[in-house]
Amino acid sequence: MGFFIKYEIKKMKISIITVFPDIYESFLKLSLIGRAIEKKIIDVKLIRFSDMCEPKVRIDNPACGPGAGMVIKPEVIQKAIQKSEREWGKGFKIFFSPQGERLEQPLLKKLAQKFFLKESSQRVETKEDHIILVCARYEGIDQRVEDFYADLILSIGDYVVMGGDLPAQVFLESFLRLVPGVVGKFESVEKESFSGPFLDYPTYSLPKEWNGLKVPEILLSGNHAEIEKFRKKQAAKKTVLNRFDWFRSSNPKKEEIELAKEFIPNHYVALMHTQVLVQDNKEGNTSITSLDIHDIARSSATYGIKNYFVVSQLKDQQNILKSFMEFWLSDEGKEYNLSRFEAVKRIIPAFNFEDVFNKIKEKEGVEPIIITTSAKADNSKNIRPKIIDYSCQKEIFKKKRPVLFLFGTGKGLSYSILEKSDYLLLPVNGMTNYNHLSVRSAVAIILDRWLGLFNKL
Ligand SMILES: C[S@@+](CC[C@H](N)C(=O)[O-])C[C@H]1O[C@@H](n2cnc3c(N)ncnc32)[C@H](O)[C@@H]1O
Repeated sequence: MGFFIKYEIKKMKISIITVFPDIYESFLKLSLIGRAIEKKIIDVKLIRFSDMCEPKVRIDNPACGPGAGMVIKPEVIQKAIQKSEREWGKGFKIFFSPQGERLEQPLLKKLAQKFFLKESSQRVETKEDHIILVCARYEGIDQRVEDFYADLILSIGDYVVMGGDLPAQVFLESFLRLVPGVVGKFESVEKESFSGPFLDYPTYSLPKEWNGLKVPEILLSGNHAEIEKFRKKQAAKKTVLNRFDWFRSSNPKKEEIELAKEFIPNHYVALMHTQVLVQDNKEGNTSITSLDIHDIARSSATYGIKNYFVVSQLKDQQNILKSFMEFWLSDEGKEYNLSRFEAVKRIIPAFNFEDVFNKIKEKEGVEPIIITTSAKADNSKNIRPKIIDYSCQKEIFKKKRPVLFLFGTGKGLSYSILEKSDYLLLPVNGMTNYNHLSVRSAVAIILDRWLGLFNKL
């Protein structure tokens, strides 16, 4: 950001091809778009589909094949595009469809850069200055027309509206505010939701108290530095709780991650070798596996898990774990592989579930939320926990309690453990009937789905 230094821009020309030009009448007259047209920053031309046909000739044809639906004739769209290009030169053609690319701020920013903004530049030239918006209705657009003409197909979301006019207006409202001069204070555009990893901070106005609700004291203090800090924190909180999906896919910087972490509760993982189902689905114990210890410790370190509990009530298994840890936490182990030391140091041996629960409660001063995992999470056994999926972070994070993920070995966690948990996470599945993952693979996948960052280009 911060790339709006100096700009030189030709007037942005927008052709709108539509069945209903009247829909745009007040839209183009009022508000900031009307002002921008008055100030000659943008110019808009409406082209009516029916003007491209002889009088009394329909603009549409029934869709080929069985089924209902009318489609605007290809030659009518062609004529409309040719008309607009004759008047204003070659245009960048945007079609609207629920099947198109999702209209999001990063895409708008890319478009703005394409047309009139150049990062870190002292001078910005407009490369293209004519955009053609093709707004279909009825059953949509003849596929051949889209294939032939569309430079970009935009969707305003995963729902179907009756025509392309509202999508075109949504596009114009979001895109034109990035045109320098359309919105008065440019900084406000740059700092808004979706321009970085955090949403905008919450805003308040006078009166100081309304319906018993007060404006936060700090905002009335006049201390700009403290207000800035407060707003940043509130923005981070709102984003983590409301749109964790946005935060994790917006390439946050180190300091932004640190800020977000203040609102993500501490997470713990326990691998159960005790209180698990073994032969004949009886509750029993399994052996500790060195590969699991290494790999789950490494996954835990990657995803910021506070501690990884290795749980066995068997003395010989505890001794195996003890000697493993003694080596990796010794000077020799640390020197041999420092990064492995970093991972192993978060392991805590425990006897059983209750031991893990109490250890976390003691550390945090509050009971953890228990999330169990299973390859076959179904509610047919009438188990108590509520089933959640990988987008339920808000429900969990807002409780402000530590979170414990329980993983089973053998044939899975015993029913007594499932009964004690608050939530059961949906199983990990691919597009096959097979989902017998090794527990260390399941841990890695689940932690990534729950806490991972999805960096984007
Ligand atoms: C009724 S819709 C056709 C929907 C199409 N049969 C489908 O299921 O994908 C008619 C027109 O409305 C516009 N439209 C509907 N929903 C849209 C959305 N979510 N985003 C962008 N345009 C949309 C498109 O121009 C579309 O061609």
